[in-house]
Amino acid sequence: MSQRILVLPGDHIGPEVVAQASRVLKRVAADFGLAIELEEASIGGAALEATGVPLPDSTLERARAADAILLGAVGGPEWDAVERDLRPERGLLKIRSELGLFGNLRPAILYPQLAAASSLRPEAVSGLDILIVRELTGGIYFGEPRGIRTLESGEREGYNTYVYRESEIERIGRLAFESARKRNRRLCSVDKSNVLEVTVLWREVMERLAADYPDVELSHMYVDNAAMQLVRAPKQFDVVVTGNMFGDILSDAAAMLTGSIGMLPSASLDVNSRGMYEPCHGSAPDISGQDAANPLATILSVAMMLRYSLAAPAAADAVEAAVSRVLDRGLRTPDICTPQDQQVGTVAMGDAVIAALEANTLEESA
Ligand code: IPM
Ligand code: MG
Repeated sequence: MSQRILVLPGDHIGPEVVAQASRVLKRVAADFGLAIELEEASIGGAALEATGVPLPDSTLERARAADAILLGAVGGPEWDAVERDLRPERGLLKIRSELGLFGNLRPAILYPQLAAASSLRPEAVSGLDILIVRELTGGIYFGEPRGIRTLESGEREGYNTYVYRESEIERIGRLAFESARKRNRRLCSVDKSNVLEVTVLWREVMERLAADYPDVELSHMYVDNAAMQLVRAPKQFDVVVTGNMFGDILSDAAAMLTGSIGMLPSASLDVNSRGMYEPCHGSAPDISGQDAANPLATILSVAMMLRYSLAAPAAADAVEAAVSRVLDRGLRTPDICTPQDQQVGTVAMGDAVIAALEANTLEESA
């Protein structure tokens, strides 16, 4: 029986990068004899225009029925004036929440070929391989009450609520400890327990869990210090676990260390490791429609899908090797291009990855 992949292109560069990643997925599936079927549905601003809501029920139903989801990016300035509940981002938050995709894995890996594109000195980042485990369906992103109210004085006040239940902390904690076990067995939990009670509890639960994982070394860091350490000496980290908002911020910072946010893939998993795969970058309206977006983060997200949801680790390795080979050839989209490199567009980058997959297959069969 074939596995059903739901493709949600979204807005601006979303459809551009997803088109390339879908080609790569189809190609690698054919090479490795994986039976997959791709279908497409709308989300974000595109869905809002077509149906009046950023996540139509039909999209959600098909997402529930799918074996895995590939998402581009949502949002854009044309929807800035839309009422808050209908904003494209709400579609993304709702699908994460409805599908219970609490575990967001964001690996920040520096491809050696891109050391010069990093904003840090090559010696600070060479060999960098961090995994950020971000809680994705709780915390201040979802806490109630929330809103903007008018006080008696007539002044308006915005408010959100930062909450985590023990079970939510434990669930993301276990995913992080398990992930650390598969890597260098070091886990740094990031919180703000010097100020926020919710993260006092967070730290307590992480400590308690540590007893079940004696082979993993657990440390704690305040989020301000973690931001500083990420740009000072990022190689000290192996796995970082943190809440929704801190994870959003730290993963963008970590992305820049790898040369470009255009290189960072992600997996968002539910309790059964069913997942949605998306680049960490946004919809980049400033470069959309110019064939200038870097499709590699989405292509690398396909590799994560093959590994975590489709049980095809060899195919995942092949995609990652193909990306590396393309970088070896000096091909770069504008975001990672230095004067020594050959600049290419989104489609040409997709072509190059597919050509590299073919070259790898030829070498293996030779
Ligand atoms: C991300 C994005 C989203 C988030 C936005 C688009 C809602 O920044 O995936 O990191 O904040 O989670
Ligand atoms: Mg973000």
